[in-house]
Amino acid sequence: MAKMEVKTSLLDDMIGVGDMVLLEPLNEDSFINNLKKRFDHNEVYTYIGSVVISINPYRSLPIYTPEKVEEYRNRNFYELSPHIFALSDEAYRSLRDQDKDQCILITGESGAGKTEASKLVMSYVAAVCGKGAEVNQVKEQLLQSNPVLEAFGNAKTMRNDNSSRFGKYMDIEFDFKGDPLGGVISNYLLEKSRVVKQPRGERNFHIFYQILSGASEEFLCKLKLERDFSRYNYLGLDSARVNGVDDAANFRTVRNAMQIVGFMDHETQSVFEVVAAVLKLGNIEFKPESRANGLDESKIKDKNELKEICELTGIDQSVLERAFSFRTVEAKQEKVSTTLNVAQAYYARDALAKNLYSRLFSWLVTRINESIKAQTKVRKKVMGVLDIYGFEIFEDNSFEQFIINYCNEKLQQIFIELTLKEEQEEYIREGIEWTHIEYFNNAIICDLIENNQTGILAMLDEECLRPGTVTDDTFLEKLNQVCATHQHFESRMSKCSRFLNDTSLPHSCFRIQHYAGKVMYQVEGFVDKNNDLLYRDLSQAMWKANHSLIKALFPEGNPAKINLKRPPTAGSQFKASVATLMKNLQTKNPNYIRCIKPNDKKAAHIFNEALVCHQIRYLGLLENVRVRRAGYAFRQPYEPCLERYKMLCKQTWPHWRGPARAGVEVLFNELRIPEEEFSFGRSKIFIRNPRTLFKLEDLRKQRLEDLATLIGKIYRGWKCRTHFLLMKKCQVVIASWYRRYSQQKKYQKIKSSAITVQSYIRGWKARKLLRELKHLKRCNEAATVIAAYWHGTQARRELKRLKEEARRKHAVAVIWAYWLGLKVRREYRKFFRANAGRKIYEFTLQRIMQKYFLEMKNKIPSLSPIDKNWPARPYLFLESTHKELKRIFHLWRCKKYRDQFTDQQKLIYEEKLEASELFKDKKALYPASVGQPFQGAYLEISENPKYKKLKDAVDEKIIIAEVVNKINRANGKAASRIFLLTKNNVLLADQKSGTIKSEVPLGDVTKVSMSSQNDGFFAVHLKEGSEAASKGDFLLSSDHLIEMATKLYRTTLSQTKQKLNIEISDEFLVQFKQDKVCVKFIQGSQKNGNIPTCKRKNNRLLEVAVP
Ligand SMILES: Nc1ncnc2c1ncn2[C@@H]1O[C@H](COP(=O)(O)OP(=O)(O)OP(=O)(O)O)[C@@H](O)[C@H]1O
Ligand SMILES: [Mg+2]
Repeated sequence: MAKMEVKTSLLDDMIGVGDMVLLEPLNEDSFINNLKKRFDHNEVYTYIGSVVISINPYRSLPIYTPEKVEEYRNRNFYELSPHIFALSDEAYRSLRDQDKDQCILITGESGAGKTEASKLVMSYVAAVCGKGAEVNQVKEQLLQSNPVLEAFGNAKTMRNDNSSRFGKYMDIEFDFKGDPLGGVISNYLLEKSRVVKQPRGERNFHIFYQILSGASEEFLCKLKLERDFSRYNYLGLDSARVNGVDDAANFRTVRNAMQIVGFMDHETQSVFEVVAAVLKLGNIEFKPESRANGLDESKIKDKNELKEICELTGIDQSVLERAFSFRTVEAKQEKVSTTLNVAQAYYARDALAKNLYSRLFSWLVTRINESIKAQTKVRKKVMGVLDIYGFEIFEDNSFEQFIINYCNEKLQQIFIELTLKEEQEEYIREGIEWTHIEYFNNAIICDLIENNQTGILAMLDEECLRPGTVTDDTFLEKLNQVCATHQHFESRMSKCSRFLNDTSLPHSCFRIQHYAGKVMYQVEGFVDKNNDLLYRDLSQAMWKANHSLIKALFPEGNPAKINLKRPPTAGSQFKASVATLMKNLQTKNPNYIRCIKPNDKKAAHIFNEALVCHQIRYLGLLENVRVRRAGYAFRQPYEPCLERYKMLCKQTWPHWRGPARAGVEVLFNELRIPEEEFSFGRSKIFIRNPRTLFKLEDLRKQRLEDLATLIGKIYRGWKCRTHFLLMKKCQVVIASWYRRYSQQKKYQKIKSSAITVQSYIRGWKARKLLRELKHLKRCNEAATVIAAYWHGTQARRELKRLKEEARRKHAVAVIWAYWLGLKVRREYRKFFRANAGRKIYEFTLQRIMQKYFLEMKNKIPSLSPIDKNWPARPYLFLESTHKELKRIFHLWRCKKYRDQFTDQQKLIYEEKLEASELFKDKKALYPASVGQPFQGAYLEISENPKYKKLKDAVDEKIIIAEVVNKINRANGKAASRIFLLTKNNVLLADQKSGTIKSEVPLGDVTKVSMSSQNDGFFAVHLKEGSEAASKGDFLLSSDHLIEMATKLYRTTLSQTKQKLNIEISDEFLVQFKQDKVCVKFIQGSQKNGNIPTCKRKNNRLLEVAVP
């Protein structure tokens, strides 16, 4: 099971003690051991009350993640393990909620992690404060000001690869909601000497290396720079590259940051031009030149570099050259120009480089401030973050260390003041009696340095301003006089004889007993550095530059604003700015982060006790704990205290109903804690000794274990019981479900049986009903049938009756009529004659006839002789009349028809009639001929030239001209002949030649024989003894037999007035020469088609097979 870790107090899972105030016993060793123990467990933060001690881990720890930020957000300071976030959160919340301006003072020596700490604070505040596009931009600008300032103000030193070479104080401004509005950065004393000279193993400011590594070739060319570091005298060569630092990448970061902060492109360009100019200044070298007047003079060795600088900065080359060769001193309207020797020229060059760079740095800060300053004028809440150089004790300590240590003295003082003040205020607030606390107040040291009359800084200024020869030694002498008696001032030459024999103190040095330890200062360079002199010629030359940024950096070079007053010395400037800073800090609620460096090797996991011990001493941390513990070591509001320890007492466990304070009182009484060990404040309990607290903690731990056992027991009991109850409940549920299920089954079974029974019953009932219905239907049908029969019978009976009645009525009517007739006749007999009946009969008959004829008139059929229609006969007695009438009508219409004929038509019809009389019903060929018109001349004898001869031979009118087959008498074979019939003759001629073969006068033709069948054979019998008869009778065959026979008959009749005998018989005799041959027609096969075949059977028989 994952371990649930919910911390409610810093005392939970504590390694060592999280708050040094609780350290028992309290001494240097236990203090260091506690830090070491925590450091070894990656606990780099430890509290002294509300002060955070931070030990540089020199490696990245996973304790700055967004999750951690969330964890510390809105939690009370002592709720979680010590962390810089807890301090940041506390500061931010009291700024936001209680409207108290805050300052976060981060101190520690170089490399202890101050700058990192300040960034952590800023990033925490940025993460927890308000969000939104505008706010985010402000945050981003504030955060991005760091890389810019670090590039220009940080350098690799022996102690720190990213050492801040300036002091920085940044005010972050918030609105009433706690959203950031902007910020103001103040910078303190840049270590500008580094520009021209770096100690061994150290580097110049990062930006020089970054430009050379990261800028593009094009950009470098523009800046007239070369990539090679060794080309530049100002860049120490031995450690140009730093492990783990990518200068090129950092350059890009810086440019990007400058863009985010709001630098214009031309501004960035100008800044880099100045940096390039500084770098190139270092390459200007001088050589000595003697002048006639014996004065030493210097000359620039190679003017090329100077020329490039001038091009870069827009300065007139001659002006700059002169500024490097002469120095003009103005006093009371007098101008005196002196030449500079080589050393002085180098001094001037370096001074210019340092000034140019340090002023550029200050300008950068001002420019950043311009960008990040709050845009509104509303009242702001302020959180100041001070990242200032820590106490420095080197082997050779100079003016810079003096200044820095002075600053640290001031900070210590404010720390003591504020801590004590706060402590005192809390006691008063809580109503606890204030007991005086003994502590060392370093005000006396501050006084030694900053006193306006006798302070060391005042002394130095006096020396600098004093006319006459002023050296560092004269300054030391002065110090020896003035400060000799001061407790914290030590010098060999002072009047105070204490140090006369102290060989550890050289003659050229003085020593100050700072609160953090003794520091020995070399006086060499104090005066110069304090003066911070830049020859006026140089500043004027710079002002003349055609480069707006450089011009702006040297306003004093403007001849119009010439100021003969000396500029304030570096010392006094610093003193003033420190005083302002102190004033500023005093108005705010201080939060301290005291950074400690665990080793000199910049290495992780190494804890150098001696080194840490030294830092603890000079940071005065033990003092700090003592001050804090002077009254009561531990304090806690009543509620969390009661909440934490309530289990130690029956009355307060598990719930205390009354006020928390009463609860704590009951609790402490119960536990028998001696009364002097604690005190009740208004809202907090104050515990004098940490031992008491630890005793409480031990008891709590013990009790927690018991409680855990108890909870375990109860939990197990509860679990088992819950399990049991659950099982029971389950059992009940299962049982009920089972019962439900079985009842359901049973019910379903009963239901289905009931349905079966029901269905059987319903079936039976239905069948019964069906039977009944069928019976009923049959009954109904039977009834219907019976009824129908009955109705039939009835109807028939009725019909019969009606018929009978009708008959009767008719009979009655007839009888009645007869009777009436009889009566009438009897009555009227006397009026009629005896034959009246006959007349009536005749009259009626006439009337009927009349009607018949009139009707016939209308019904008369068409006049066509072949129309067979004839209306039906209306009266039986008109049978014969009707037939007669039909005959008459037919004859009449035939006559009508005939009357229309022309003579020619008449002739044709006469012929046809003749043919009919001759052949109708006698010859089978006849019916086919009825429709054929008789043409007679089938051959055009007169037209065809072939028959010209024949025509000429026959001068009579030709009645028939036709081709016939002449049957050979000998073999019965046929041969074509032209058959001609004229008025008097019958002629046979050759078909081809037209030569007449036979000519028979009609008078010689006795008979024509033919069969009754459907053939065209005919025999022309000739008169015995006639000329033509010598060859015998002709046996011919023609398609127009009927016509030929008819015409032959008619012509013979008209010429000879004798009827030609036409014999129709299937067997007749023909005279062939002397023999009589019988021609016999038989029914033949149809193998030759419809053509009859003729065969001579023997002498007496010629057989014609007719199909
Ligand atoms: N909390 C930390 N976690 C990890 N590394 C750290 C932490 N604090 C500091 N360091 C490491 O120590 C180095 C030095 O820290 P930093 O620059 O903050 O020191 P400093 O106190 O500002 O020194 P100086 O006075 O020289 O500016 C950092 O570059 C970083 O590598
Ligand atoms: Mg720093």
